[in-house]
Amino acid sequence: MSDRCDHDQEIDLEEQQILAAIEAALPAMPTDRHQLIPLLQHIQGTHGYLPLGGIALVARHLKMAASKVYGVATFYNQFRFNPPGRHPLKVCLGTACHVKGGEIILENFSRRLGIAEGETTKDREYSLERVACVGCCALAPVVMVGEKTESYVTPSKVEGIITEIEIQNEIAERAKEKHEPESDTQ
Ligand code: FES
Repeated sequence: MSDRCDHDQEIDLEEQQILAAIEAALPAMPTDRHQLIPLLQHIQGTHGYLPLGGIALVARHLKMAASKVYGVATFYNQFRFNPPGRHPLKVCLGTACHVKGGEIILENFSRRLGIAEGETTKDREYSLERVACVGCCALAPVVMVGEKTESYVTPSKVEGIITEIEIQNEIAERAKEKHEPESDTQ
């Protein structure tokens, strides 16, 4: 329970730090409303996503209604409003992957992780999104797991992909514990 609370607090703190960084950077940015999109792109490029609080800060900076800025941001699918997970899952839905069942793969990840596309799990381990052709159509359907390409993905392979990530996480965690100096023993 306390681990979970610590983790949540860590995440809140992370978002607060991002908002503080956006607030500190804005005064040096143009105030022309025509610069809205480049401004949003800059924030996403720097922080990986557009936090809702960041949208409010941009609105204040450009003297626009926050709802208007939000409306513009959601119109373009280049913007994401959730932080990328430590393991971003990108399901290709270009033509070849779509024909070979990409939508079903996306649905399976969504159900397995309990998030919709464009969302990130609460613990920020996984984020899920659909992408256009990633350039290896002969291997369709394809899923990018971080930088790794998973090919010929089937619904039954979805569980295996998540399990593999969990095992790697556990191995990394154990290695970390092993190398951490024991405290309070000296
Ligand atoms: S359509 Fe998926 S890799 Fe080309």
